[in-house]
Amino acid sequence: MEKTLTAASAIPRKNFRMTTPVALPRYLEETYWWAYLHPRAVRLFERQWLVNLILWGNYAKLRDAALREFGSPITGKVLQVACCYGNFSQRLAQRLAPGSRLDVVDVAPVQLENLRKKLNGQPRVFLHRQDSANLAFTDASYDQVVVYFLLHEQPEAVRTRTIEEVLRVVRPGGKVVFIDYHRPHRLNPFRYLMMPVLKWLEPFALGMWHKDITEHLPAAARPAAVEKQTYFGGLYQKVVIIV
Ligand SMILES: C[S@@+](CC[C@H](N)C(=O)[O-])C[C@H]1O[C@@H](n2cnc3c(N)ncnc32)[C@H](O)[C@@H]1O
Repeated sequence: MEKTLTAASAIPRKNFRMTTPVALPRYLEETYWWAYLHPRAVRLFERQWLVNLILWGNYAKLRDAALREFGSPITGKVLQVACCYGNFSQRLAQRLAPGSRLDVVDVAPVQLENLRKKLNGQPRVFLHRQDSANLAFTDASYDQVVVYFLLHEQPEAVRTRTIEEVLRVVRPGGKVVFIDYHRPHRLNPFRYLMMPVLKWLEPFALGMWHKDITEHLPAAARPAAVEKQTYFGGLYQKVVIIV
């Protein structure tokens, strides 16, 4: 069970980097303000049962599929690109071996503050306010990167930039794990249920149905391995790239 959140025992502010001024992306302000930026959004959505419901009961399966990719304990430097509701980051942080570290970036201060409280003093975790499409980290500076349900929120050009950026910051031989939406199989009823829902609430998400994550890779990219697995009749995917 997750610990109760208290501001007093939250992750120290010295681990919280908001130094560079970063503008909020337009799509976030226009399309997702209600989900991530509004002061009441965190209070409403930060419930494990609700994020599990939004993923049709697949939260734990997808979270654990991503976590397994990093091994246990996790060694080296890990980057999580964008916060998310639920206990994903806490579980990631709990697996860190001594001497390893987790950096988490998000562009929305309210989301970073929420994560700071959720992490509840867990050591070796550092939070950064950055845009995924323009990361401030140096090339090849991470061993592993995870991008959990971010790409579907982004317009196609931003999605491509995010993928380029995560590949840039991973060292040769390092791993990138994407978990996100995917086009369901024809016989999956969720294909027909989710199409109007996504069109209405998450207008860029259908782009994930029509273009593979690997099709966004820069032409010069030569990944050592690419593996894709789908879940829940194809509605979700995990793509693992060894750089
Ligand atoms: C990763 S998605 C997670 C969605 C998923 N429904 C969840 O919460 O489990 C949402 C997060 O992405 C962040 N985000 C969106 N665009 C971003 C960008 N360009 N750079 C960094 N963070 C971004 C939002 O601020 C929000 O915290």
